[in-house]
Amino acid sequence: MRKADVVVGVQWGDEGKGKIVDMLAANYDMVCRSQGGHNAGHTIWVDGIRYALHLMPSGILHSGTINVIGNGVVVNPEVLIAEMAQFDDVKGRLFISDKAHLNLPHHSEIDKAKERLKGEKAIGTTGKGIGPTYSDKVSRTGHRISELAEPERLCEAIMIDFENNKAVYEALGIATPNEKQLLADLKRYKEVLAPFITNTTNLVWKALDEGKKVLLEGAQGTLLDIDHGTYPYVTSSNTITAGACTGLGVNQKEIGDVIGIIKAYSTRVGYGPFPTEDMSSDGDRLCDVGKEFGTTTGRRRRCGWFDAVSVKYASRLDGVDRFALMKLDVLDGFESVKICKAYQYKGETIDYVPTDLENVTPIYEELSGWDKVAGISRYDDLPQNAKKYIERIEELTGIKVALISTSPERSDTIIR
Ligand code: IMP
Repeated sequence: MRKADVVVGVQWGDEGKGKIVDMLAANYDMVCRSQGGHNAGHTIWVDGIRYALHLMPSGILHSGTINVIGNGVVVNPEVLIAEMAQFDDVKGRLFISDKAHLNLPHHSEIDKAKERLKGEKAIGTTGKGIGPTYSDKVSRTGHRISELAEPERLCEAIMIDFENNKAVYEALGIATPNEKQLLADLKRYKEVLAPFITNTTNLVWKALDEGKKVLLEGAQGTLLDIDHGTYPYVTSSNTITAGACTGLGVNQKEIGDVIGIIKAYSTRVGYGPFPTEDMSSDGDRLCDVGKEFGTTTGRRRRCGWFDAVSVKYASRLDGVDRFALMKLDVLDGFESVKICKAYQYKGETIDYVPTDLENVTPIYEELSGWDKVAGISRYDDLPQNAKKYIERIEELTGIKVALISTSPERSDTIIR
């Protein structure tokens, strides 16, 4: 039986999954997104052209690849339609699960209103309504994409939802949609999206049964997982490998190779604990050189050093077989670079991730820096100190770094 391989982010997202999935996609027949929504943002550079994808699986840039948006994804039709319009050959190459949930404008409004109300305790969400959409799904008040088949009925159901939640929505300052406009929008969504909506569980199973190569692409990162991340400063889905199973209907026995994506340093967007955050000019330098601004919101990302403790934890949750190490070139020119190898926690030195991660202090190991790795595509050509850095990551995490990225371009990649 052919198994599906997984690409998963092992930090707080934005590890550079887009480049890897895009590179790998050429060797896969099918690329599937399993969770998240348009809070995600994959940036892919091909021949100097930047593509920002939010909902579309990264395989879309390869004409021979089938792309699947799984049941675990929350889909904003407006965003998806705009993204689809960038490509003229999506028909027959893109399939959307009929079980995926609809993310609508009021979800985003609720998200923003709740963040405002939280004040200092805000999560720093992307404001895209991801939490409220998943809340509706779990509360069994959400609407699946399949319901677009009958726009009148769906419109009526949404208007009833508003009626039922009138008091709450009024308090949050969320206006009831104009029914006529809503119906017109839903009809338009149906018209554009209907040819792409199907039972993707069957589609993926069939591909696996036929021995096709299938790649499951996670969004966000493991430390943002709703269960295992830094709750409540997390996203609203399971970002770990297991989320790829539930989000597509692939069982755990059908999971093959798990490629964990790590960045050579750490970043985080939004609030929440981040032990290795660097508030000095080094952090600013990582941000500027690494162009660490959100693909979705444009926010400046918080930056810091590589945290081997949380990466080891996340890799266990994900069942990572090998790492792809991204953006090593961003560390070029630093006199020394730091790796967090343990935490100080309640007077002890620990090498695991406690649930109250905000109470740890990182214990660093300092390594000598190097001049330049940018553009190098052979391991042997790397400066000695860069090799030492990579090998230390391997020692601390127990996982091989099989792929190293030295620039945003596809070609600047070392495969070991
Ligand atoms: P939400 O997913 O919009 O609800 O945001 C919850 C948290 O996850 C916030 O800290 C966001 O910044 C973060 N987040 C959501 N999507 C991404 C992503 O694609 N990359 C990095 N952080 C993300």
